[in-house]
Amino acid sequence: MCGITAYCGNDEALPFLLQGLEKLEYRGYDSAGITILDKSLTTVKCKGRLQLLVDELEKYDLKGHVGIGHTRWATHGIPSHLNSHPHTNDKNTLSLVHNGIIENYRELKEELVNKGYHFQSETDSEVVVHLLDSYYQGNLLKAVQKVLERIEGSYALCILSTRHPDEIIVTKKDSPLVIGKTKNASVAASDIPALLAYTKEVYFIEDNEIAILKANQIHFYDQKGKEITKESSIIPYDIDAARKNGYDTFMLKEIYEQPYAIKETLRGRIQNETILFEELKNIDFLQFNKVYFVACGTAYHACLCGAQILERITHLPVLTQVASEFRYNDPIIDEHTLTIFVSQSGETADTLGALRLAKEKKASTIAITNVLGSTISRDADYVLYTCAGPEIAVASTKAYTTQLILLMLFAYYIAQELHLTVNTKAILQLQQVPWYIEKILEDACQFKEYATMLKDKHDAYFIGRSLDYASVLEGALKLKEVSYIHADAYVAGELKHGPIALIEEGSVVIAVATQPHIASKTISNIQETIARGADVILLTTNHYQVKNVENIYYLPNVEPTLQSILTAIPLQLIAYYSACIRGCDVDKPRNLAKSVTVE
Ligand code: F6R
Repeated sequence: MCGITAYCGNDEALPFLLQGLEKLEYRGYDSAGITILDKSLTTVKCKGRLQLLVDELEKYDLKGHVGIGHTRWATHGIPSHLNSHPHTNDKNTLSLVHNGIIENYRELKEELVNKGYHFQSETDSEVVVHLLDSYYQGNLLKAVQKVLERIEGSYALCILSTRHPDEIIVTKKDSPLVIGKTKNASVAASDIPALLAYTKEVYFIEDNEIAILKANQIHFYDQKGKEITKESSIIPYDIDAARKNGYDTFMLKEIYEQPYAIKETLRGRIQNETILFEELKNIDFLQFNKVYFVACGTAYHACLCGAQILERITHLPVLTQVASEFRYNDPIIDEHTLTIFVSQSGETADTLGALRLAKEKKASTIAITNVLGSTISRDADYVLYTCAGPEIAVASTKAYTTQLILLMLFAYYIAQELHLTVNTKAILQLQQVPWYIEKILEDACQFKEYATMLKDKHDAYFIGRSLDYASVLEGALKLKEVSYIHADAYVAGELKHGPIALIEEGSVVIAVATQPHIASKTISNIQETIARGADVILLTTNHYQVKNVENIYYLPNVEPTLQSILTAIPLQLIAYYSACIRGCDVDKPRNLAKSVTVE
């Protein structure tokens, strides 16, 4: 989730590029850079925040009417000066910025190195500039088209060439890019906020369409290079709303980003029915006799789910523990234990403490995190990344579902490596999860209505069994975090052992019943709460007969192991709308911080 900006006009390019990058910094920032074209290309880049680039630029007297800029959120290669964008070719005649992931960069890199190209960085993006150089024969548009035929993955690209000094070529696939027109210039950026101080008139291009930006005009081309026309649109909102992409809050924006975040996390991981985790290829999974999952909060709930699935598939003993307990409970682990630490931020003190303990005890360690270069990613023996992009809202949503999908893939990967029978239907269905989530999001008003049931309540009870129990734990956490309603999650079978004493007329019970081997039992438990006056909201699938429940939402029928990802969406939206109805500050709940770096 990098930010990119481009300017081709009659005024100086730099002010536009920098103000745009500043507006995009919320998307992530571990380095930033710009290239200005003025006969030759001058590229200045810096590791760290944008302000460091601004300070660095004071040493230059950069003038030029054409330029590109980038603020990076690392995915391939640690945050560093060399890995920062823009990337240039050996002759310094081409420069480009890229947002996205080039999946086949390893093959392309090998091919280009064999042709004599020199790579400066560890990034996937750099292959694009050298590939472009290798195809360029006087026509930049044609060279870009050829590049698009070769690269796989997601991209938004802005390209400069000294041979075409009055233009910028831009294109995209599965990665956002918006083009704007001002009186004096054509501009582009990965996100609308970067444009709004200059123009509200914008053009959107489809995947693999190409645009050539010139100071006074913009030419659009389809995939085959045929010129096409585009209508402009007017952005109806201001910068603050635009940062939230038109959503009222970051939390809602991030809930709606889940289909995209999951697609990005899955990208390049499944080939036919085979799961690829290049990063783990040196691990011999036969050496382990036990697996531990360790995390905090929402990440812990993702682990509960991942652990159950792993145990079911591999029959290895799998334990899950909250990091603050694990680190002080003297866990029985050794070199035959695989320990997995899950953390969105990669900086949570308890999870880091637990990881260090595991290393002291010689266990193998894998970190799963959303932040490249984070402490956990540096400290663990191996690291896997979720690709949720920066999560701004304190309550975790897209980080959770990307953790779930990665943990599911990981479980199937271990089974594959152990030569066990793998549920290929589930693997293939994993790829349809983004589509199913989109369908559920279309029903948002239904969850808003359920939320009204909680408006004046002090308590809510969540129940589920098996994987559904992990889901309701997360549902209850989300509700209490953002709406301040006291919410507890119970294993449905435990109700009769105590909690049912709390149920009375008007109590709200939110139940999840999606797991075929146990759903009917949960549905019976629901009846016990209804008999005591509870108002029930049930999330289930249409496999089961349910009586007396007015508020039933039928989730899509998918493989049982995948249901938890789908279940998360209604639970997030119920929590979200409950908080809104109660007038809570959804993005910044009281007493909470995004990254908990203290014990
Ligand atoms: C809840 C939430 C927290 C975090 C927890 C761990 O919405 O965000 O419970 O999940 O603090 O944080 P990370 O994943 O950064 O280690």
